[in-house]
This record gives sequence, C-alpha cells and structure tokens, in this order.
Amino acid sequence: MNSWFPFIPESASTISGEVDALYFYISGVTVFFVTLISLVIIFFVIRYRRRNAFEIPRPIEGSTKLETLWSVIPLLIAMTIFVWGAKVYFAEYRPPQNALEVYVVGKQWMWKFQHPTGQREINELHVPVGRKIKLIMATEDVIHDVFIPAFRIKADVVPGKYTTQWFEATKPGRYHLFCAEYCGMNHSGMGGYVVVMEPKDFDNWLSGNANQTSPAAAGQSMFESLGCASCHGANGEGGRGPALLGVFNSNVVLSGNQTVKADEGYLRESITNPQAKIVNGFGPIMPSFQGQVNEEQLLQLVAFVKSLSTAKPETVTAKPPPASAKPSASAASSPGAK
Ligand code: CUA
Repeated sequence: MNSWFPFIPESASTISGEVDALYFYISGVTVFFVTLISLVIIFFVIRYRRRNAFEIPRPIEGSTKLETLWSVIPLLIAMTIFVWGAKVYFAEYRPPQNALEVYVVGKQWMWKFQHPTGQREINELHVPVGRKIKLIMATEDVIHDVFIPAFRIKADVVPGKYTTQWFEATKPGRYHLFCAEYCGMNHSGMGGYVVVMEPKDFDNWLSGNANQTSPAAAGQSMFESLGCASCHGANGEGGRGPALLGVFNSNVVLSGNQTVKADEGYLRESITNPQAKIVNGFGPIMPSFQGQVNEEQLLQLVAFVKSLSTAKPETVTAKPPPASAKPSASAASSPGAK
C-alpha cells in the first residue's frame, strides 16, 4: 500500500493528486527559503563578524526599494499558495450534485454506514470505483473525524449537526479509514477500511446484501409511528404542519419572512428543535423529538423527507454511470416502497 515516496500514503482519489501537488509545492517553497536564508545568515556571520573589541559598525540608512521588494515578493508567493489552496479546498468540500449518498454515524468507538439502498456496514464501507460518493455524517456522542488518507479527505463529525465530504476513488483496493479526532479510550481503535470495487463487483455486493430496508422506508415507518402524519399528512401533503412534499432543497419562507434552504441540516434541526425556525403561516406547535430518536433514526427521517421531494429526484438517480445505475436507481425512486 505504499507509494513511491516514503510517508506519503497511496493516492487513490480524483483529488489526491492535486492535494499532493500543492503539498509538494508548499514544501518546495519552504525548503528553498530555509536553505536560502540559512546560507545568507552563515555568509553574513562570517563576512560582518566583529574583528576587534572596539569596532563600531557604520550606521545604515533604510532602503524603500529593498523593503518594498522583500514585502511584495513574499506576498505574491503566499498568494499562489492561498489561491491554489482555496481551489483545492472548494473542490474537496463542495459535494457534487450527482453523488451517491452514504450516511455515516460515528459512535464511541465505531463507524456505522448505511447505503441509500439500505445496506448497513460497520467499520467497513464498500463503494464503486469511478463514482462520486457523498458522505452525510453525524455522531451519536462526541466529536469524531472521518479521515481516509488515500483519498486525501478528512472532516469532523460534530454533535448536533450534519457535515459532509465527498470523494471519487480512482482504483479498486482496500484503504484505511481512521478517526482523526481524539474521542476517548478506544479512539486509536476507531477505524476500518473503505473497500473500492469495480462497478460490477459492487453491484454484486449490493445485491448479495439486499432485502434490507432503505433509510427512506425506515424513515417512513418512523414517520407513522411517531405520529408525524397527524400534522404533516399521511403522505407529507401537509395539514396543521407544513407540507413536506418537495420541501427538500427548496427555499422555505419562515415567520419574519427570512428564507432558508431546506437542506439536510435544516430538516434535522426542524425535528430536534422545531421552534428554531417556524415556517411562515404556522404556529409553534410541534414538540421536539430530541432524545426520542437517535442519529441513525434522524438520518432515516431526513431520508424519508428527501424522498418526498418531487421537484428534485433523490440524487442517486441523477445521471449515474450505466454500469452501476441499476441498484441505486431502484432504491432511490421507490420512496417508502416496502
Ligand atoms: Cu472517534 Cu476518535
């Protein structure tokens, strides 16, 4: 699993080459200036050493030209690092629209994954090669951090909210996954593997683990058992509470006329802390479900509401490569199908 350069992990995602290039560029600039400045210091120490005990140095006038030069050149060099770094950062932390979504829940001390088609995994995540994968991540307890060195991605998982990151693996293999945030006694053991498979093998793997309830379907039965339907309607058409049909990714007008985008984070907050954002025209009557549902169940409820989206089909159906189209499409287009 080693690459040509010691200490550098294998490079196996679309972004990892660019992260490495930037890393080597910064290292190169650093080594160059460390060497240059060290040599100049040594030269000056010898050249301008005190030659007798009573020597008084000649006073030196400032030089505007020189000072401008040694301010502007470092600024330009620093800006190349900034611009390049920002470019890589945005590419890495803005998940693409057509990604396959995987739900991740961290818990002392394990990682739980769930595929949109329902398959669950612990400390192991199977994904197809050449496909964009978006991780929607939550934690049951403390802060954890999903770190996959071979893909050069790393992001905290923070209590009370969702964080996301994405990757596209470029070659099949088994890659280490770490928790990269100290989270208690077994932090060092909290990890596993991402298994990247050829699309055909992945399809086989998926169908070999079929017959599992999809998150959206599980969310639907929770929606019914928690009594959400009495206000939001049996099919999310609305009633005493706002309609949920098509709400995902739409702009919701709140009381006070602010607008908020109904992303996963908003849906989550509306379940755990409904009073935080009241939809315009509705009263603050919804009870909080904080503590009644765990993070996995919350993700399932969110998946159900997303599946009610009419305006925008769940992202897994959007333009998947033909090879892996079948299993994901069937899952996503059947919200709540049992
Ligand atoms: Cu979880 Cu460290």
